[in-house]
Amino acid sequence: MHLFDPLQLRDVALRNRIVVSPMCQYSAVDGCANDWHLVHWTQLLQSGAGMFMIEATAVTAEGRITYGCHGLYDDACERALATTLARARAQAPATPVALQLAHAGRKASSQVPWDGGALITVADGGWQPVAPSALAHSPGEPPPRALDESGIDAIRAAFVRAAERADRAGIDALELHMAHGYLLHEFLSPLSNHRKDRYGGDREGRMRLPLEIFDAVRAAWPAGKPLGARLSAVDWVDGGITLEDSIELARRLVARGCDWIDASSGGVSPTQRIPLGPGYQVAFAREIRRATGAVTMAVGLITDPHQAETVVATGDADMVALARALLWDPRWPWHAAAALGATVPIPAQYWRSAPREAAKAIANLKIGQR
Ligand SMILES: Cc1cc2nc3c(=O)[nH]c(=O)nc-3n(C[C@H](O)[C@H](O)[C@H](O)COP(=O)(O)O)c2cc1C
Repeated sequence: MHLFDPLQLRDVALRNRIVVSPMCQYSAVDGCANDWHLVHWTQLLQSGAGMFMIEATAVTAEGRITYGCHGLYDDACERALATTLARARAQAPATPVALQLAHAGRKASSQVPWDGGALITVADGGWQPVAPSALAHSPGEPPPRALDESGIDAIRAAFVRAAERADRAGIDALELHMAHGYLLHEFLSPLSNHRKDRYGGDREGRMRLPLEIFDAVRAAWPAGKPLGARLSAVDWVDGGITLEDSIELARRLVARGCDWIDASSGGVSPTQRIPLGPGYQVAFAREIRRATGAVTMAVGLITDPHQAETVVATGDADMVALARALLWDPRWPWHAAAALGATVPIPAQYWRSAPREAAKAIANLKIGQR
């Protein structure tokens, strides 16, 4: 198995194992995509990656991290997604497009990162975040409102409605965001879930809502379209989620038809200590894949083509997701194909760009003029 081998996920064919990791752009207005997204999506659809994943997309307006977060909670958002995506796709080689469905939970109502990222209180023009328990993310912050069962039911229904909207807008695959300290991760982690009802308590109770949402979305999402999940494999805090917990969750998800496990980590507590380094989360993808047979996606400081090739070739993961490296160099897959002796589709307008030694990386290359 190699980085540039194809991969079939239900009816969706990936030309290679490189995935554009979901990346918030904080540039939507009222949840709606606009010209920023048109440029950003087109650029990454031209990258040659096997699949492009649209940023964390809120299933309710209150589930946005910031006022600039992309949403899929009303007709205007759905229309903006459908038209912007169609325009981006028309300028790029055919590439499957996934979208990450999310609810920010207690991390909602934040400033955008370039304004500092702090919680905006209701008094300062923010909104009231919701969570499994009334526990603040950071000391000194006002706590979120704990969801009651009718609030939980409404959020489950919102995930389903957003999935239906994504289907109509032309999205090929969905990923449920169960990581990074957002709502579904907050239910999974004993650090943020102190509920006494059936949605809290032991691991079984804490997994209940994420699994219910998986089942509800799977039932509403076309059978031929894949549905994956991003997990925080560990919380990096004593008393938090362990890899064993995540292996059990992955096992349950796979049994329900989950098409990939995207193995990330952290985000639920400011006291986390993350040992950052090249490929620092790859071992989570490997262990989850070994223990459960899940198709896995490795992510986190994968920056070098040979490093990415090794992750796939050794069977640590079936796919690699890149975020920052693809913003820095949106043509990373072109350059990786050249380095590894593979090919990628490159828009014909750019065929003459390749240095002589890299020309073999361009699929179907032919240049003529007189
Ligand atoms: C600008 C930016 C926005 C991000 N937004 C999201 C997001 O919407 N959903 C998500 O799960 N992770 C998000 N992440 C995390 C990335 O998807 C990825 O997991 C992380 O950056 C580690 O991969 P990297 O080392 O290749 O950047 C974001 C990262 C960056 C840099």
